[in-house]
Amino acid sequence: MAKAKTAYVCNECGSDYSKWQGQCGDCNAWNSLQEIRLAPAGGHVSASTRVNAAKGYAGVTSQLQDLSDVDVASMPRLSTGIGELDRVLGGGLVAGSAILIGGHPGAGKSTLLLQLMCSLAQRMPALYITGEESLQQVALRAHRLELPTSNLKMLTETDVESILATCAQLQPRLIVVDSIQVMQLADISSAPGSVSQVRESAAALIRYAKQSDAILLLVGHVTKDGSIAGPKVLEHMIDCSLQLEGDNDSRYRTLRSHKNRFGAVNEMGVFAMMENGLKEVKNPSSIFLSRGDISAAGSLVMVIWEGTRPLLVELQALVDDSQMSNPRRVAIGLDQNRLTMLLAVLHRHGGLHTGDQDVFVNVVGGVRVSETGADLAMLLAIVSSLRDRALDQNLVVFGEVGLSGEIRPVPSGQERIKEAAKHGFKRAIVPIANVPKASVSTTNNGDGLGAMEIIGVRTLQEALEAL
Ligand code: TYD
Ligand code: MG
Repeated sequence: MAKAKTAYVCNECGSDYSKWQGQCGDCNAWNSLQEIRLAPAGGHVSASTRVNAAKGYAGVTSQLQDLSDVDVASMPRLSTGIGELDRVLGGGLVAGSAILIGGHPGAGKSTLLLQLMCSLAQRMPALYITGEESLQQVALRAHRLELPTSNLKMLTETDVESILATCAQLQPRLIVVDSIQVMQLADISSAPGSVSQVRESAAALIRYAKQSDAILLLVGHVTKDGSIAGPKVLEHMIDCSLQLEGDNDSRYRTLRSHKNRFGAVNEMGVFAMMENGLKEVKNPSSIFLSRGDISAAGSLVMVIWEGTRPLLVELQALVDDSQMSNPRRVAIGLDQNRLTMLLAVLHRHGGLHTGDQDVFVNVVGGVRVSETGADLAMLLAIVSSLRDRALDQNLVVFGEVGLSGEIRPVPSGQERIKEAAKHGFKRAIVPIANVPKASVSTTNNGDGLGAMEIIGVRTLQEALEAL
């Protein structure tokens, strides 16, 4: 019998080596190589390939074809029945694809997938593999959410080989693995959740999905630093990576795609976690604008661009005398470094000093904003709080601020202004290059249509004057 071979896999980045070494040559991590045992069989290939070959999933036969001859019509999209999820997926699920759903514990991954599977199981064979919760827990949840439970096959299993055996028997079109961190291959000596286990288990499952044209949904937990355990390890194997985000104490959750081979990335779907499960939010702008009628200093509405649509969100700033030698700068939902940079711009080009003040900015509703279009709104909200003067409630703001105090245009300016007009805003302070040529009419509450007042600004100074 052939001798079992070993390979060494880096726990940080997943690179493999034939010999042990103290430092990984790829990611430079020290002492991160871990030994994995490869099953004895011909040729040198990774453990997963070996496992699959042993199980009879021979590689796809390669054949030469003209690109124009490739049949694309045979890749229909399967609608999930959840509009916001379809939007993030780029129109629905694609057969033979592997999708990773990441998120913090309690974000609602299991809930979302259970809802999805219960409804799709009515149309096609579906298998839900739970390695974390017991069948009773899942059943109880399905019962409480009043989901249709017939036809959905459940399996509590963490051994990948038995899962593949069950799949070969059942031939499911849809497979959920909750979660990939608890799955294991007997061939690999390291513990479940380690990079080598996660990588090889995922590879085996994905390979099965590709060959049987099933849709595979993998749940992945996010580690403290925000990456899915085994960073980069899973990301290149899967077709689509979605992240469910949101504070556990806020009921809103956003679903974003970070990688999508079948659609646009950075598309965002919005959900609300209710007593009866995750519900999609069809008009997200209206929920993030939760302000009442009282206008407060430091509060401002901005228009951000999320994937393929504009979104109105409220931004709040608080500037207060600091008791510390090192005043605090806290940005929640925004980039902290960006805030520090903008405060320097405000000092240098706006003449407003915040060096002895604590500055807090927060995006209401737990939304995370990563685009620079929020710069101008952040500065104006800070100025409003610093001066303790409330801003016009009918004002919206967007624009990027440059280091020399110039206001730069942002993509999709027209659509942002239109979205604001649709929600009845009457004034906008925007970069001059984003001012539309034609006037935009806004729905005046009760008194018919009126033209929106759009103020184009070139510099921070002009923006402050426009306030
Ligand atoms: P869950 O789907 O178990 O999260 P994950 O799988 O991402 O770890 O979601 C659990 C959280 O959602 C839990 O904190 C309770 C809350 N929840 C509701 O508020 N309403 C509901 O109907 C359900 C099912 C869960
Ligand atoms: Mg879960």
